[in-house]
Amino acid sequence: MLSLLLCDVAMSQVEGVLPTPRKAEKRSGAFSILTTTQITHYSQLRSSALYLSEYLPLLVCNYNADVKGNIVLRVDEKLADEGYILDISADGITIDGGSAAGVHNGIETLLQLLPPQVYSSPLATPVEVPCCRIEDSPRYGYRGFMLDVARTFMSADEVKRFIARLAHHKINRLHLHLSDDEAWRMDIISHPDLARKGGYRGGGSVVAARYGHSDQRYGGYYTQEEMRDIVAFAARRNIEIIPEIDLPGHSHTLSRVMPEVLCRYEPDTRASLGYDTRDALCVAKEENYRLLDDIFRELADIFPSPYIHIGGDEVIASQWRRCPDCQALMRQLGKSDESELQEYFTQRLTSILARYGKRTAVWNEASKGGTLPKDALVYGWESVKACQTAAAKGFQTIVMPGQWFYFDMKQTPREAGHDWAAIFDVRKTLSFNLAEQGFTAEQMQNVVGFEATFFSEIYLSQREKDFDYIYYMTYPRMCALSEVAWSGGGRWESFYPRLRDYHYNRMAAMGINFRLFPPEVKYDEGQLTASSADGADIYYAVAGSDEFVRYTSPVATSTPERYRFKACRGTAFSPEAGVEAAFKHIFPKVAITSSIAESERYPYSGAESYGRISRTSRAADVGDWVLYTFAEPVECRRMEVATGNKQLPRYIFNEGYIEVSYDGVQFERVCNLTDGRGVVESPREAIRAVRVVCTEKGNGARFVTVQAPIVWPEW
Ligand code: ACM
Ligand code: ZN
Repeated sequence: MLSLLLCDVAMSQVEGVLPTPRKAEKRSGAFSILTTTQITHYSQLRSSALYLSEYLPLLVCNYNADVKGNIVLRVDEKLADEGYILDISADGITIDGGSAAGVHNGIETLLQLLPPQVYSSPLATPVEVPCCRIEDSPRYGYRGFMLDVARTFMSADEVKRFIARLAHHKINRLHLHLSDDEAWRMDIISHPDLARKGGYRGGGSVVAARYGHSDQRYGGYYTQEEMRDIVAFAARRNIEIIPEIDLPGHSHTLSRVMPEVLCRYEPDTRASLGYDTRDALCVAKEENYRLLDDIFRELADIFPSPYIHIGGDEVIASQWRRCPDCQALMRQLGKSDESELQEYFTQRLTSILARYGKRTAVWNEASKGGTLPKDALVYGWESVKACQTAAAKGFQTIVMPGQWFYFDMKQTPREAGHDWAAIFDVRKTLSFNLAEQGFTAEQMQNVVGFEATFFSEIYLSQREKDFDYIYYMTYPRMCALSEVAWSGGGRWESFYPRLRDYHYNRMAAMGINFRLFPPEVKYDEGQLTASSADGADIYYAVAGSDEFVRYTSPVATSTPERYRFKACRGTAFSPEAGVEAAFKHIFPKVAITSSIAESERYPYSGAESYGRISRTSRAADVGDWVLYTFAEPVECRRMEVATGNKQLPRYIFNEGYIEVSYDGVQFERVCNLTDGRGVVESPREAIRAVRVVCTEKGNGARFVTVQAPIVWPEW
């Protein structure tokens, strides 16, 4: 009976491996890893053996065919490079890999067959592993994730922790977005100001604080020593780091640190109150290519990847249009369109990279002309069509359209995140299928893999309140990315039980605070019931309190709108759920006026409808205000007044306060702005008007975004 039970458990564990192996054969019995068991390895696999010993603290020795009963790591060159065969019998464990990469993948699968605690502390022996034979290899050689450490800085240790967790999901590329408008993170010794000044914002830094926090200096950068250590840490986990310097657009920080890289014309900075907001390098300046040569020479020495990513997305060509030098270059080259200048720029950078033995990687926009070399790697982010176009031109293409793979997108409408690409959860990411999306067989041949991203503008504003936001946004969506890139994807019906029944516990042991599905809440015959598909514990809070108590049985109530539920499993949690009325908020009719004229293109009347954009015609100065006068006095329990974009505190009043008026004449100050927004809680009377007042000059932009107040009515 006991052995039967063991066998059942063993079968399940093998079935729970994620991403799905090509072939997994379950066998009866188990191998006991004892304190005396050794990790023995072919000589070139010492690093792999040491990696395994971090989890299984066993003696590591060179392979000896005569000694049995051990864990054996070997290379079998007949296997695919990243392929492996994991064979577990009562006599021992063998991992044969096509290379060290294949052995690494086999080790990650072995870890998944061990108790989840293996991820949190070195595993105590003896421990049993189910007998099985797994023959596996990935469909795609590029299984990547892009981490935007430019918008929000993550320390070297945080990046390493993130990498360690990616490795457990058989991800093998980390695309590091090292520069953007908001910061420059990689120390360049020949141009030390780049990171040492450009790594910081706020508190008098050269780069204005775009997302608030203007009074304090914040940010950071990686020294070359730190980055070499990160690269080695990743390499030990079969992860190659591809560095990105985003050029020639998205270069506002570079332009603030070295204004000489900009085009030669006097910009009109009246709207930005004297701040030069330009962000594109001049294409015609030879000195710029010398600077970039220095930068890429240093990067090429730090990063062993054959590729360096040079960006190429979202270039604002109007800057080149106004530049006499760029225009002269266009004439000299016989070009009629500024986009062709980008082609020229990409060509120049490609030859610089070639000098240092590197190939070019670009966002899809930079593959538009006909001059990008065919050995370039193209990252298709804009759309499925953009990926197909790049692949059809013969480029090695990374598929990553935002609608499936941008993990900075919200997962349901009320959660934090962007929504410009889509609102989606893990289920949608898993559903991505090249054939269903209309890729031809020829295009599919050029798809080398998939990548997910986390652009981190919103992370910055979430960080202080919720450090684990990045994990909430990326997991479990990352598990689906891993499945799509490793096995080609699969059906939700078979993926989800493995995710929930096996992988949730593993992620928890890895320390990942992943997102759970919101509980399903129903109200029927005076009773509120809640259930969690994830099998998680459910908690609820009643209006007026943020204290959540455990839900154990239906709640009898005549006011279901006052209850908010959430699911929790260890430190993982779900978004809040409830009956629709629990989250009801309104936008009462309001007239908006300001000390600043409205943008002609985006007038204040646009703010009244939540979906539209409304802007001032310039940044705000000290004393500027926006006044909201309601058509009818508004009775409410809460009112939120925000400057800036809807999903992130950008284009805000960097500092300021909110005043309310109950009679439309007298105003009283109620709160300061945080990240450009403030909340009026429990106003004592109906509100007739509310005013937001700016106390700081400028915001690093040419305007302020104006939003209509959001009102939560009285119960
Ligand atoms: C991008 O999202 N601009 C690559
Ligand atoms: Zn120029």
